[in-house]
Amino acid sequence: MRRRLVAGNWKMNGDLALLAELDAIAAAAAAHPGVDVAMAVPATLIAPAVQRAPGLAIGAEDVHEADSGAYTGSVSAPMVREAGARFTIVGHSERREYQNETSQDAWAKAAAAHRQGLSVILCCGETGAERDAGRAERVVQAQIEKSLPEQANGDWLTLAYEPRWAIGSGRTPTLEEIAAIHAIARAKMRQLIGEAADAVRILYGGSVTGDNARAIMAVPDVDGALVGGASLTAAKFVPIIEAAG
Ligand code: G3H
Repeated sequence: MRRRLVAGNWKMNGDLALLAELDAIAAAAAAHPGVDVAMAVPATLIAPAVQRAPGLAIGAEDVHEADSGAYTGSVSAPMVREAGARFTIVGHSERREYQNETSQDAWAKAAAAHRQGLSVILCCGETGAERDAGRAERVVQAQIEKSLPEQANGDWLTLAYEPRWAIGSGRTPTLEEIAAIHAIARAKMRQLIGEAADAVRILYGGSVTGDNARAIMAVPDVDGALVGGASLTAAKFVPIIEAAG
């Protein structure tokens, strides 16, 4: 049985004052022991977030694929781990879009994070144009094929399906469309890593709210949610934890 995971992603938002939101989020997480709750925050907030909410899994939004070196402005897996991160997101569509990251980059970053003992949320998802062209399934399959580490298993890796056109847009795929992609993602992982794929959680991400979370998480092969906008306040995030519980 896969435990449900509700993960937030603050993206390039937040400051020390916003960490106060973590108090109610940590309380909701403690009240729902059957649900795993995690929050990815900007690198500068990892250490203070861990201090504020020691019971909550705090993570990074990205890491560099190298452990150290001449990469001005980048942050490595050992650095975020030292700051207290327990996991990192890799391959988020905003990294792909604005930093030209590829699935191969996501593969290398996932491996770097795993070397440091960090869990990984590996993202995939098609653009609106790709969906309109009927290519969503093929795009996601190809992304998984190129980015899933050979040693992946459910102990440390979670896949997140995030259609880019659904992120921050208030639009979501139909439940049938979500089910179809999650099923092909599971099948592709089985092809690549065998039975280990059955324990890998697959999150849905893209305009998840307290209103739609219950229905989305009831879809077969949806093991939780990766939440952007609605993770920025406890008032919006806690109902998603409750929907998972
Ligand atoms: O990582 C989170 C996703 O990009 C979803 O963002 O919930 O604001 O649509 P959103």
